[in-house]
Amino acid sequence: MVIGIEPFKNGLANTAYYCSTNKIKNIFLFPFIFQKFEKKFKNYCFDQCYIFFPDPWPKKRHHKRRLVNYQFLKSLISHCNSKGTIYFGSDNYDYFDDIKNKSKLLKKELKISVKSYKKTPTTITRYHAKALKLKNNINFLKIDKI
Ligand SMILES: C[S@@+](CC[C@H](N)C(=O)[O-])C[C@H]1O[C@@H](n2cnc3c(N)ncnc32)[C@H](O)[C@@H]1O
Repeated sequence: MVIGIEPFKNGLANTAYYCSTNKIKNIFLFPFIFQKFEKKFKNYCFDQCYIFFPDPWPKKRHHKRRLVNYQFLKSLISHCNSKGTIYFGSDNYDYFDDIKNKSKLLKKELKISVKSYKKTPTTITRYHAKALKLKNNINFLKIDKI
């Protein structure tokens, strides 16, 4: 079972269209923000989580709006099954570096390994394609629960 979390109708409609034309039936779309999902399904767990090109909020005063932060990561790892993986990708180096450093800090309290990659572990998403076109510096992080 795949769970897609997206609050905006356009993104949801595109995903629903893709699934219906490609006969993908094992996907559940949650049409709200991730924080609402967490509140509703307190005991959720997963094997793999993909967070690709989340809104980067490049201005320093907006960094607090970023979806992924220390608490978010810590909570996500606690919901990750053993031997599970969290993937994070961004073309904003400041965001990527921040999450990489926070993941390394979390290594002190949680059993995880952290690796950086330049190549996507999946297909190229819409924002990945945009970043490639702009020749942006794209980086991926793989956080494994060990
Ligand atoms: C820059 S787009 C990247 C979309 C896609 N992952 C890709 O790589 O093409 C960021 C997406 O995150 C969604 N988003 C923003 N805040 C969110 C939140 N709190 N929970 C879940 N999704 C969120 C936005 O609606 C948008 O579709």
